[in-house]
Amino acid sequence: MQARRADFPDDFLFGVATSAYQIEGHAFGGAGKTHWDSFAATPGNVVRAENGDRACDHYHRWEEDLDLVAGLGAEVYRFSTSWARVLPEGTGKANQQGLDFYDRLVDGMLARGIRPAATLYHWELPQALADKGGWRNADMPNWFADFTQTVMSRIGDRVWSAAPINEPWCVGWLSHFDGHHAPGLRDIRATARAMHHVLKSHGAAIEVMRALGMKNLGAVCNFEWAEPASDAPADVAAATRYDAIYNRFFLGGLFRGEYPAEVLEGLGPHLPQGWQDDFALISAPLDWIGVNYYTRKLIRAAEGPWPAYAEAPTRLPLTQMGWEIYPDGLRDFLLRTAREYSGDLPIYVTENGMANPDTTDAPDTARIDYLDAHLAAVRQAIGGGAPVRGYFVWSLMDNYEWSLGYEKRFGLVHVDFETLARTPKASYEALARWWRRNTA
Ligand code: FCB
Repeated sequence: MQARRADFPDDFLFGVATSAYQIEGHAFGGAGKTHWDSFAATPGNVVRAENGDRACDHYHRWEEDLDLVAGLGAEVYRFSTSWARVLPEGTGKANQQGLDFYDRLVDGMLARGIRPAATLYHWELPQALADKGGWRNADMPNWFADFTQTVMSRIGDRVWSAAPINEPWCVGWLSHFDGHHAPGLRDIRATARAMHHVLKSHGAAIEVMRALGMKNLGAVCNFEWAEPASDAPADVAAATRYDAIYNRFFLGGLFRGEYPAEVLEGLGPHLPQGWQDDFALISAPLDWIGVNYYTRKLIRAAEGPWPAYAEAPTRLPLTQMGWEIYPDGLRDFLLRTAREYSGDLPIYVTENGMANPDTTDAPDTARIDYLDAHLAAVRQAIGGGAPVRGYFVWSLMDNYEWSLGYEKRFGLVHVDFETLARTPKASYEALARWWRRNTA
């Protein structure tokens, strides 16, 4: 790798990220059904109709996996807790086995000198709550607050950081407008409600965790750089709408207590009654903001109702996901987030990485190059004044890539989904050399 640890501030943290449903194996340990199980069981939604029943079997192999995190020299491990594992019916009686699992996991990190960075919700909504309308239901903030209380009463005393919800855009837009993720809706009214209830639930969870005396609380948003496909005013306006929906809606809610006009134009009539009164809760002060970044899109104007945009053909080299490799977008988001929204608040790159169709015998140099280029972008952002304090690679190991099943491999560690054998890839070895040599 070209990147050098010495080029980053002394207290800059490096880590890896995973999420519960993508690695644990939801058929084990008394976890309840989730909306991803029913979404995957519906033909056409997920490649080969694969689900998270077994995934990487992390539920049983977590010690080996934490050893891999430690072997990498990672200082922080970003993991998530499954709502359906902890509360199989979404509310009510807790599954003690589930709470015990996260308790052991956190202690396992601490025993290895790794800081636990918890995310409460990374998309596996309990089916019982999905049956009640899921994120469309105005009771979600209360249910989510109860889940937060249940989990954090158990592990909140030992986690290093906590964030309520991974990637509000995916929970809201991708799942209710694009229909690409569970529950697979394509409905503007459902979208408006989900987007607002996600932010309100975030606020409710922060309130619960503050009351428990927890520190280092943040939010994790995913951003995608939107570039107009041409200079034509209609294309420029379309890219601005895309940016507003994807990126500025959530930052606006969290930091300014308002939603962008370009989004209200479409979603305004569908927001739940009294939405304007929720911003005190939504924009309660945070201790950090997390940025997940992968790619950019070229956007053009399209016919039809709001939001009237479409993706234009890409121009840069692509990853296995078909995503453009565009490190400048990471630099620019870090700078813009600090400048326009979060000011001096610490920023963490909470996810960054690429899918690569690698095998154990082909070195995954493309991933090493990708990480190198994005670390250079982080350094540029720091040089430009953005208070970036850490960087997490997505992901520790190959896992369930949602509607793309097990086909897309984001791991630093290869997983054979037949035998479940873990084999570190060249990118793991490169990072381990780099992180270990310099943290010693
Ligand atoms: C992010 C998700 C993560 C994974 C990566 C590739 O949007 O948070 O679970 O799917 O993309």
